[in-house]
Amino acid sequence: MRDFNETSITDAVLERFANTPDPRLKEIMASLVRHLHDCVREIEPTFEEWMYAIQFLTRTGQISIGGRQEYILLSDTLGVSMLVDAINHRLPKGATETTVLGPFFVADQPIEQQGADIARGAPGQALYVDARFSSMDGKPLKGAVVDVWQSDSEGFYDVQRSDLDSAQLRGRFHTDTEGRVRFWTIMPTAYPIPYDGPVGDMLKATERHPWRPAHLHFMAAAPGHTTLVTHVFVDGDKYLDSDAVFGVKNSLIDAYPEQPASAAPPGGRNLKGSWRRLDYEFRLSP
Ligand code: BEZ
Ligand code: FE
Repeated sequence: MRDFNETSITDAVLERFANTPDPRLKEIMASLVRHLHDCVREIEPTFEEWMYAIQFLTRTGQISIGGRQEYILLSDTLGVSMLVDAINHRLPKGATETTVLGPFFVADQPIEQQGADIARGAPGQALYVDARFSSMDGKPLKGAVVDVWQSDSEGFYDVQRSDLDSAQLRGRFHTDTEGRVRFWTIMPTAYPIPYDGPVGDMLKATERHPWRPAHLHFMAAAPGHTTLVTHVFVDGDKYLDSDAVFGVKNSLIDAYPEQPASAAPPGGRNLKGSWRRLDYEFRLSP
């Protein structure tokens, strides 16, 4: 086969993949080639534009070292992470909805006691969390492993702070016999996703902001159930309708109601001003 033109080149490339033994790989390569060729035919890039695209992807790889994963940020900001999440979580009605994992989860945290304070000295308005984990029929999930993590009052995660050498505002718990996890922390704040790299350049060039509305992250794993990866967002946050990574769902928004200074804080804690609480029930699908 020779003399390909703007149209016939697509079938020629598809034909070259005809002997791919793995049918799934064959399907994926064919779809990628068809959509990529259609995209190029639609946008008709100049050589300079095509080289910019190649350099953009090269920079995206080069900046992805250690905790920085720019390709995940690119997937997040293009809505692909939430699309993959939706396709893979067609959950039964009533199951807690899922959202992005994000880059700030840290595995293998030590188990905390019920009632622990995971703020570990981080300043902010005190927040008491009473989270209940159950299966679809409402039965409590005892002994589930629950990870929580969140931003501080300046919008940073511990792993982003060079002044910290131990975990802060994150913890791992086992649910008790009622399927509950209770802990103290501080209110999370809205924060910008890292935007000093190619993804930030894309956001700036397209006049998009990098902000995520305030949220607590939860990951809950229980035998016989799909591991739940989700957030609980703070109602009233000004970025709820423009989350940089498209992760907000109505069912995952809570008021985190303010408690007057006169309301006795659980565990006999001595607090000066008002505090907030989050009571939330998570239902895991089988
Ligand atoms: C996060 O919620 O931690 C997050 C999610 C996606 C991109 C950046 C941060
Ligand atoms: Fe987050």
